[in-house]
Amino acid sequence: MPEIEYEGEKWAVPSGVNLRKALMDKGLSPYKGQAKWLNCQGMGTCGTCALELLSGEAPPPKGVEKWRLNFPPHKADQALRLACQIKVETSLKLKKHPGFWGEKKS
Ligand code: FES
Repeated sequence: MPEIEYEGEKWAVPSGVNLRKALMDKGLSPYKGQAKWLNCQGMGTCGTCALELLSGEAPPPKGVEKWRLNFPPHKADQALRLACQIKVETSLKLKKHPGFWGEKKS
């Protein structure tokens, strides 16, 4: 089973689980501040669940995820991913950056 490492926690998840769901089931959040309440509930349109994959792999973004990551305040070259659009197939180490969307990657 793949493992997720995020915000000081590390745990195993079933292969293929949705990353946003896995984080929330663990009591963690892919959101910052009021985005915890003001988000699209996993539709891939708000962009507030953006995270950086520090290690591990996910298929390249496509469809709504690719569109949203190319739309401000996100930029395609930031290499962030939307937690709600990722199926966890390999172990992932994740980081949330500052900003309402988690877009302020230094
Ligand atoms: S929850 Fe809105 S894009 Fe992921």
